[in-house]
Amino acid sequence: MTYDIVIRNGTIVTADATFRGDVGINGAQIAAVGQHLEGRETIDAQGLLVMPGGVDGHCHIEQDEADGSVHEDSFSTASASALAGGTTTVVCFSAHLPNGRSLVDQFETYVEKGRRSRIDYAIHQIITNVDEQTIAEGIPEVVRRGVAGLKVFMTYDDFHLGDGDFLKVLEAARNAGTIVSVHCENYEAISFMIRECLARNETSPRYHALSRPPCLEREATYRAMVLAGLIEQKIQIFHVSCPEVVEEIDRARKRGVPVVAETCPQYFVLTGADMDRPGFEGARYMCSPPPRTKADSAGLWSYVRRGVIDVISSDHCGYSYDGPLGKSRFGRDAPFSLVPNGIPGLATRLPLIFDEGVNRGNITLNQFVALVSTNPARRYGLHPRKGTIAPGADADIVLWDPEKTVTITNSLLHHAIDYTPYEGRQVKGWPVMTLSGGRIGMRDNAILAAEGDGSFVAPLKGN
Ligand code: URP
Ligand code: ZN
Ligand code: ZN
Ligand code: ZN
Repeated sequence: MTYDIVIRNGTIVTADATFRGDVGINGAQIAAVGQHLEGRETIDAQGLLVMPGGVDGHCHIEQDEADGSVHEDSFSTASASALAGGTTTVVCFSAHLPNGRSLVDQFETYVEKGRRSRIDYAIHQIITNVDEQTIAEGIPEVVRRGVAGLKVFMTYDDFHLGDGDFLKVLEAARNAGTIVSVHCENYEAISFMIRECLARNETSPRYHALSRPPCLEREATYRAMVLAGLIEQKIQIFHVSCPEVVEEIDRARKRGVPVVAETCPQYFVLTGADMDRPGFEGARYMCSPPPRTKADSAGLWSYVRRGVIDVISSDHCGYSYDGPLGKSRFGRDAPFSLVPNGIPGLATRLPLIFDEGVNRGNITLNQFVALVSTNPARRYGLHPRKGTIAPGADADIVLWDPEKTVTITNSLLHHAIDYTPYEGRQVKGWPVMTLSGGRIGMRDNAILAAEGDGSFVAPLKGN
């Protein structure tokens, strides 16, 4: 048998095995994994790790905002950035705005927007308006149409749900059979803290971190889990920032609450002190929940090793520093409460976690693959099509040079954002080639995949 492409002599790494071998690809799928395979085209992977492409379960791409703006990173730029960083599937967010259009209509419009993606994409549906139609018709219908899950915010002026509405969404999700992911921070308490800061004229970016302390993330997480337990509906706690929150998750899991957890690279490599920089510079690091302390990062790794946190996503949510949609859209002396929350991270997710996790002995190579690819694929019903290297899986593969040392700089990342919070940071381990659907989508940082090469992917039946 001669395959279309053979990736030869690499070290194949999956979530549960590491071995020398070849990968045979026919069309868009992996056809064989073995020794001495023959291909019409050969890719030499000597000295490289051959891993399933990253599955990023949490990215804000071309998302409509309540103020009428649209996120700067389009499907074209975000998917280029994903490829540059070794990621081959994104799970992004369809917004739910009070614009008179039905939930299904907003979901379908977003599916269409994604047609410009260079890589495959799945979709979370945000729920913000809990009206009769959304609950009775909207949620069941988007589940039928292949949504990967629902997303609910417990904070943010424009998006937060109170407990009563949250319960209705949990019940609708249970009846329709989909997971609910939750942004857990206490809205009323944060609003109070922000008002107090502003009254004391504490307006610089450092007060973003100080107005959102861990206890408010912990309280909201606890409450979300109590409500999920009441309804017996599975939830995922998004972007967990510190061990005192995971402690609650661990306890709830031991009580039988159906809860799983995600964290992000920023909670391992940034701290609250990054927001405490001269002038407005700290705005570059502002996201919610805010990064905490070095001790918190160390504590998070121990919960990752134990599997209490089993997915690491980027929460890519880029706002340029300058420009009309940027962090400084209201000026460089605007109070922190007016600065949009979120940081770019699609391309840097794998390199940062490889360097912080594998190189420093916090996790094994197989755990790395599980955290950034296999587990998120499972969570959203995309496994075994995504997240593994095995016959029948999509040929979404990253070739990784574990010895390559790179100084991160924004021009390597191919996103639309004018900065990276990781500028100047050195990492060892970098993707040198990314294949998506059996085609080379990135080689030596050049993006070769075209707009539209990706497809919408829905959870597999029976997963
Ligand atoms: O600050 C963040 N994380 N922005 C993105 C939106 C969200 O909360 O996930
Ligand atoms: Zn969030
Ligand atoms: Zn997010
Ligand atoms: Zn595809």
